[in-house]
Amino acid sequence: MILDLKDLKPAERQHYLLHVVAPRPICFASTIDKEGNVNLSPFSFFNLFSYNPPIVIFSPSRRGRDNTTKHTLQNVLEVPEVVINIVTYDMIQQTSLASCEYPKGTNEFIKAGFTEMPATIVKPPMVKESKVTMECKVIEIKPLGSEGGAGNLVICEVLRMHIDDSLLDEHKKIDQKKIHHVARLGGDWYCKVDESNLFHVTKPTTESGIGIDTLPSTILQSKILTGNNLGQLANVTELPVIDPSFDDAHLKQIILYYSINPDEMERELHSYAKKLLEEGKVREAWQVLLAVV
Ligand SMILES: Cc1cc2nc3c(=O)[nH]c(=O)nc-3n(C[C@H](O)[C@H](O)[C@H](O)COP(=O)(O)O)c2cc1C
Repeated sequence: MILDLKDLKPAERQHYLLHVVAPRPICFASTIDKEGNVNLSPFSFFNLFSYNPPIVIFSPSRRGRDNTTKHTLQNVLEVPEVVINIVTYDMIQQTSLASCEYPKGTNEFIKAGFTEMPATIVKPPMVKESKVTMECKVIEIKPLGSEGGAGNLVICEVLRMHIDDSLLDEHKKIDQKKIHHVARLGGDWYCKVDESNLFHVTKPTTESGIGIDTLPSTILQSKILTGNNLGQLANVTELPVIDPSFDDAHLKQIILYYSINPDEMERELHSYAKKLLEEGKVREAWQVLLAVV
């Protein structure tokens, strides 16, 4: 299927874009109007765009239904300050409740059962239950259109972060495994991040990988190695050579057993290399593959 966005109704655009541009982190924004009424609402049109200066942007859209603007937008136009609270799995049902269209002036801290904690630089309060909160100054608000569904970029400079000590390791750095973020996808779908679905992808920071185009053709044309496997192999900084000291009993067994059938031997070696790559053993996988290159 090919879609031209101009031919779609706004609700259809919303469906396809929100299911595809996902998962999106959630900004739980606490704002205040000029009378001092507090508002708390979630926004998944949200991300980090710069760390020097430290800039995050979220976007309260004009309502598709009646083209009205959200209270959060009205508030930041009156008082250009916001606390962005990070949403973790244990907060998600209450966060969703805070997204109800309550009348203006309703404090969603009370409706959703969160605890207000005074911020230290800005006027809107922080969510006590959130493990990371960011006190921000709104530096610019950029409307993206005037019809229902149009976003309004609220460009925020992060002034101060509050990080719960339970998220830190011994060097006071954030242990990614400990923040159980939730993110929004299409419709009612969410996902959570925890140790069962986190994984590392190693990237050389100073030198470039050799690239998939440099891989030997037997590896490149493998029917067993996947794109992910090739990506790992091509991430080395120079083409490996046979290491005579590499001593691997299973490799020896394959070579001995399949010596009369080179096609089967290649298949076995590629399967073994794939297993090693899945365990993150790139050097060992290369040595196994070099046995037939
Ligand atoms: C997880 C989640 C993410 C949301 N993301 C957005 C968003 O990015 N933009 C938006 O306009 N509305 C979003 N909404 C809907 C708003 O939270 C909802 O319209 C809310 O009532 C706005 O409150 P306000 O009028 O008090 O600012 C989201 C709702 C949920 C539950």
